[in-house]
Amino acid sequence: MSELVINNKNQVSHINPEIYGHFSEHLGRCIYEGIYVGEDSDIKNVNGMRCDVVEALKELKVPLLRWPGGCFADEYHWKDGIGPKENRKKMVNTHWGGVVEDNSFGTHEFFELCRQLGCKTYINGNVGSGTVQEMSEWVEYMTFEGVSPMADLRKKNGHKEPWTIDYFGVGNENWGCGGNMRPSYYADLYRRFQTYVRVYNPDKPIKKVCGGANVDDFHWTKTVLDVTHDHTPPQFHGFMDGLSLHYYVHPEGWEIKGSATDFDEEVWYKTLNKALFMDELVTKHGHIMDQYDPDKNIGMIVDEWGTWYTCEPGTNPGFLYQQNTIRDALVAGITLNVFNKHSDRVKMANLAQMVNVLQAVLLTEGDKMIKTPTYHVMHQYRYHQDGELLDSSLTGVEEITVGEWSVPKVTESVSVDKDGIITLTVNNLSIKDKETVSVTFADGDYEVIEATQVTGEIHAHNTFDAPEVVTEEAFTSYECAENKATLTLAPSSVTMIRFKSK
Ligand code: AHR
Repeated sequence: MSELVINNKNQVSHINPEIYGHFSEHLGRCIYEGIYVGEDSDIKNVNGMRCDVVEALKELKVPLLRWPGGCFADEYHWKDGIGPKENRKKMVNTHWGGVVEDNSFGTHEFFELCRQLGCKTYINGNVGSGTVQEMSEWVEYMTFEGVSPMADLRKKNGHKEPWTIDYFGVGNENWGCGGNMRPSYYADLYRRFQTYVRVYNPDKPIKKVCGGANVDDFHWTKTVLDVTHDHTPPQFHGFMDGLSLHYYVHPEGWEIKGSATDFDEEVWYKTLNKALFMDELVTKHGHIMDQYDPDKNIGMIVDEWGTWYTCEPGTNPGFLYQQNTIRDALVAGITLNVFNKHSDRVKMANLAQMVNVLQAVLLTEGDKMIKTPTYHVMHQYRYHQDGELLDSSLTGVEEITVGEWSVPKVTESVSVDKDGIITLTVNNLSIKDKETVSVTFADGDYEVIEATQVTGEIHAHNTFDAPEVVTEEAFTSYECAENKATLTLAPSSVTMIRFKSK
């Protein structure tokens, strides 16, 4: 039995809704087919966006969407994606499958998608193969209200009002696909490029995101901050609002990766152990950031995270299409608890990717759409958005060791919303054993107002023929009285419980 004490009067940090952000790249069937089918499609759509997908995403309260990449961002030339569609340039998507990109989804379509989702926008600019002028003109095109060549062009293309860019990424993975740069070189480019990401409307500042490290490349984080810190807050507001971090869970390493659905018990624990590594990464990169930015003005932006397996047999390897099981549900639950716990520094995170790519929340096939186990976990965790992290301590947690892989049996995080409702999300990582968690509120009595779980046999997943094998189901294995609750968590489960003060 593990014991959880919730110090419900002790609010630790604000959970930015953007921690529950998403990522959509021009990769495989994420944008095309998955989200955008075009106005003339037989699939029901509004302005080209699939209605089923938009509806499902709205239920997640998607707070923010990143686009157009990823690696694609540093090959993207935005002017190819504006104006009449029949005139738009076709290009080869060299990174992802070598397919033809017809640019029918461009800047106007992205903002239309975000309008339909009601979410914030995160545009990723091109440093690797683009110019300062190109980046600066894109920002002018999107956000300048007055008379200027780019604002006039936007108006000519049918959008009179400027849009809002909430976040702008100055390059992507510039240590790799974004130009294979060394950190000091990229840092100098960051200084230069960001200068021309102009904020035309002071009421709508654009938060600038500097390209950060791959996994545990602490040297990158340190060097980039060394070269830029004379401009970081509080000395120079508006220079750098975020520093990114990318981390994917590859169960069998980068080369082999491993199957999404066919894995043994040892690989289950190995995968979850690797998901837990996010905590160490965020902590260690955070310590470096603390040296330059002790007041935490610069957010850690984990703008790519999730599982990355060998793609589904018979699919284009460049499309990164993979299935999603209860294992992915646990990876999501573990990772989101880590982000909540570090919400003093982590200000945004983007699950990679939204539809049909990597750890997607939705999969589509023609006019069919299914929700993955990860979707259901994101739905459970939506209550944490904009909440305040509560101090909580878990004791008596068993450690499970299989082969060389160890994990704690339970992970959790707790937040309180503006109405005083407390949300607890708690994971049981054990394949075989239930877990009893005894919960104590340090202050006051509570009752349960909602409780759900996502659970199943570890390989369980949804298919187009059986779309509801894994769902978010009612959780009833609890007792609650006065300031205590006792939960009996199913094996391999993600549980969400909401408590109201009595
Ligand atoms: O999400 C897939 C790819 O992973 C992105 O394009 C890139 O940034 C990362 O390497």
